[in-house]
Amino acid sequence: MATNSGIGFEVVNQLLADGSFHVLLSARSAEKGQAAVAELKSRNLPGTVELLKLDVADERSIIAAAKLVEAEHGRLDALVNNAAISGSQGTIAEQMVECFRVAAVGAQMMGDYFAPLLKKSAGTPRIINVTSGAGSIGNRMDPKGFGNEFPAIPYRVSKSAMNMVFAGQHRGFEGDGFKVFLYGPGPTVSNLSPSNAPGPGMKPTSVGAKPIVEMVLGKRDIDAGRYVEYGYEGSFPW
Ligand SMILES: NC(=O)c1ccc[n+]([C@@H]2O[C@H](COP(=O)([O-])OP(=O)(O)OC[C@H]3O[C@@H](n4cnc5c(N)ncnc54)[C@H](OP(=O)(O)O)[C@@H]3O)[C@@H](O)[C@H]2O)c1
Repeated sequence: MATNSGIGFEVVNQLLADGSFHVLLSARSAEKGQAAVAELKSRNLPGTVELLKLDVADERSIIAAAKLVEAEHGRLDALVNNAAISGSQGTIAEQMVECFRVAAVGAQMMGDYFAPLLKKSAGTPRIINVTSGAGSIGNRMDPKGFGNEFPAIPYRVSKSAMNMVFAGQHRGFEGDGFKVFLYGPGPTVSNLSPSNAPGPGMKPTSVGAKPIVEMVLGKRDIDAGRYVEYGYEGSFPW
């Protein structure tokens, strides 16, 4: 499960290329989701994909989606919490709340409402939370910290909070055998913000998405239960 654009779209693309998955591509916009699914189907990859209409900021939408997945598939093997927004046009309070609702409240709700289906996984249940180095308090406190030229407070706060959601999922679900991941892709071309346009230091989505795919495939289980930031294996501050 991922989303209709950027890194999430590429995660679905790579999972379909692997061929061993039926992927539920989630999108809050039916139009964008249908376009993404049509594009992926046109590539004739060996895996299968369907649209799951879902707004991670809307609890009723998540509950309805979880019921649909239960009715149609009976289980879920891996959940990728990838949705985020970098900001909005509103007041500072509105921007804070909107970013927080998507990245932190969304990741918490998705984990909680899909956990019963993950517990029915045919293999190891997996949750991959896509965070950002922008949420690193240690990095922000460092005068030479990476990306500190961008204040982006609503986004940063939402990702710091997501990191704690991850910690709660890791501890909360370890008794059920879950592997829970926290991964920051680092600067990657996407639709997230104007600064995610192609340019120096920006990696393609294929590169930023690959570790997520490897986490889904069980190739990076050593990274479960810790924070992995692309390019800073094991050493990026919380
Ligand atoms: N790209 C980077 O440099 C970078 C760096 C660090 C971390 N990240 C993280 O990587 C993840 C993927 O972002 P991206 O860079 O690929 O940006 P993106 O292209 O903007 O993708 C974000 C996706 O999240 C979806 N989304 C937003 N709000 C949603 C909601 N309420 N419900 C469902 N879906 C929602 C968006 O859908 P819509 O099209 O409908 O808006 C979009 O498909 C994010 O968590 C981001 O914080 C990215």
